[in-house]
Amino acid sequence: MSTQANLYVDTNYKLSKVDSRLFGSFVEHLGRAIYTGIYEPDHPLADQDGFRQDVIQLVRDLDIPVIRYPGGNFVSGYRFEDGIGPRDLRPTKLDLAWRSVETNEVGLNEFVIWTRKVGAETMLAVNLGTRGIDAARNLVEYANHPEGSYWSDLRREHGFDEPHAIKLWCLGNEMDGPWQIGHKTAEEYGRLAAEAAKAMRLVDPSIELVVCGSSHRDMPTYPDWEATVLAHTYDFVDYISMHQYLGNRENDLGYYLAQTEGVDEFIKSVIATCDFIKAKKRTSKVMNISFDEWNVWYHSNEQDKKVDPWQKAPPLLEDVYNFADSLVVGLFLITLLRHADRVKIACLAQLVNVIAPVMTRKRGGAWKQTIYYPFQHASKYGRGTVLQTLIEAPVYDAREFRDVKLVDAVAVLSDNERELTIFAVNRGQENAITLECSFGATSGFELVEHIVLESDDVYAVNTEDQPDNVKPHTEGKSVSRGGKILAELPALSWHVIRMRR
Ligand code: AHR
Repeated sequence: MSTQANLYVDTNYKLSKVDSRLFGSFVEHLGRAIYTGIYEPDHPLADQDGFRQDVIQLVRDLDIPVIRYPGGNFVSGYRFEDGIGPRDLRPTKLDLAWRSVETNEVGLNEFVIWTRKVGAETMLAVNLGTRGIDAARNLVEYANHPEGSYWSDLRREHGFDEPHAIKLWCLGNEMDGPWQIGHKTAEEYGRLAAEAAKAMRLVDPSIELVVCGSSHRDMPTYPDWEATVLAHTYDFVDYISMHQYLGNRENDLGYYLAQTEGVDEFIKSVIATCDFIKAKKRTSKVMNISFDEWNVWYHSNEQDKKVDPWQKAPPLLEDVYNFADSLVVGLFLITLLRHADRVKIACLAQLVNVIAPVMTRKRGGAWKQTIYYPFQHASKYGRGTVLQTLIEAPVYDAREFRDVKLVDAVAVLSDNERELTIFAVNRGQENAITLECSFGATSGFELVEHIVLESDDVYAVNTEDQPDNVKPHTEGKSVSRGGKILAELPALSWHVIRMRR
């Protein structure tokens, strides 16, 4: 049985240009993200710098513009000085955030080299947990000042004559969280972030700054945290961060697939809080959002409790993603795109081995998890201008969410305005839905390709031995009729419907 949904799109009704940094990601010194993830000098596929070329290729294929580093919770106890200079002089330290051993074989310079290999830029977080203004401004000087000062000359001594020109900087990480090393109240953090921002900008006025918002929407201090922190920092920063992870802990698929409704609400409330402070400050400056940690994270939670502390590169946060997770990641991407007027940066957390689209085995292979595909599709076809869309679809209720549409979708027009891409998910577990796409006064689109990610088994996963259990195909059933496109969306499926005129 097939039911019907309608999507109304008109290329005259533009919402916003998509900032390509919406397709950013994140690599933390955590688990096997760095060591045996991106860096494994004794791997047969390692390049001359010790980076795994199989991983570089998989990451390159995601076309990621910006990668956040080095944390995450890790950054709140980190001394960047430990990761620069001759490797044999770098100290091995205890990382208190993940109770692991950090050898510092990889630090800022190596990471910058790696991001260039994968075609991305580095987004750098400073430590506002155990450290403060002085270390933050020194790091900006080390990374970005051309020469003729202690820190910039040290970088040159370390082999990097040219500044790294790092544009985007995070003022700490999740400082509202009691788990954070150096956790602060909103007042304490707001003052520190404002003063650190001022000093960092004195070193390099061209940088952009992200201040910490709440760690997730259920934090007891949310949204007062945002209001207080922005009251202190509004004039000195460019973005406020959002973080949110989703999960299917209750094994309730309808509820799991509805959770992006909560993300949508969360974004709207943070925008409202930013605009409240804007009004209070009588300023025309608009505060945008850096959604710099988002993903699905729940599979590894119990296993991680059993991992012994103080190992180098322990197997932490190694979620093995199933097909249902890829649908939620697709829904998350649709939600982010729908807010492209205010969400300018977003980072899929994370990238390799740690809650990641790319997995590796030490001395073994590298493969794509199920969530790799919707992210790759959005990164590839989601650049351009997001259009205002109206969706009519049957609805359902799931725990805290009422009237959840069975179909969620968004449309993006390419920069040359010749290509239109619709991203859609059918959340329905029973029936296929025919999505009728109307283009108002601006019809004339021909179907180019209809990519589908679907599976008979919502729990299907990709592994090193069976890397193609879940992968997209291009046999999507769509037809053009009377200036409309009719797309068949099987129950539980992700779609990329590409059109050209
Ligand atoms: O991405 C994993 C962790 O999640 C990060 O270190 C932290 O910022 C968040 O709580």
